[in-house]
Amino acid sequence: MTQDEMKQAVGRAAVEQLKNKLESDSVVGVGTGSTANCFIEELAKIKHTFDGAVASSEATAERLKSHGIPVYDLNSVNQLDFYVDGADEFNERFELIKGGGGAMTREKIVAAVAKTFICIVDESKKVDILGEFPLPVEVIPMARSYVARELCKFDAEPIYRDGFTTDNGNQILDVHNLEINAAIALEEKINNLVGVVTNGLFAARPADIILVGTPNGVDILTP
Ligand code: A5P
Repeated sequence: MTQDEMKQAVGRAAVEQLKNKLESDSVVGVGTGSTANCFIEELAKIKHTFDGAVASSEATAERLKSHGIPVYDLNSVNQLDFYVDGADEFNERFELIKGGGGAMTREKIVAAVAKTFICIVDESKKVDILGEFPLPVEVIPMARSYVARELCKFDAEPIYRDGFTTDNGNQILDVHNLEINAAIALEEKINNLVGVVTNGLFAARPADIILVGTPNGVDILTP
């Protein structure tokens, strides 16, 4: 199985997880990225079984709409039973690094609201220690250099994602050379830097279920 086929397989497996649990008034949280796109393709096939979706990015909102799936503002939704999204790295504690596509702030908000966060990945995303993938940090533009100097004190190397603006009008620092052993503490510490909007560590609110695409099929990981 190629990496693309593994992404398609976990997209299908995620829809299998949702089937029979969705009601006609259910709203589904939908993530961002190439694996989430595979999920959207599959979700569209059962669009008559639920009401609509909340999107974690403008790109996802457009894609959902193009499939005829209504997209709601999160503020108008009372309950979100499921959020389905990819990740850049995951560990055995179900902690994640996300934000390769720069959408982690909205992703984190939707994940916070959802009762169940189903993470869909191919097996290349599994790591023993988070941090090989540079940790994305969304910053208010005027704070970028200050936050970068503060991040250097963590013995890390923040690199400005030049030319990229988030859906929220902010900028991203990709933080290299982090070896993340205490993910919850680091998530909080970085979030506490003035000017940081959020960072791509999903540790305080990790995934609940991880569907891992492998050459032999999809592994369903539960805590
Ligand atoms: C988007 O900002 C990210 O959090 C994605 O979920 C993550 O980068 C995974 O993307 P792929 O599924 O494209 O690897």
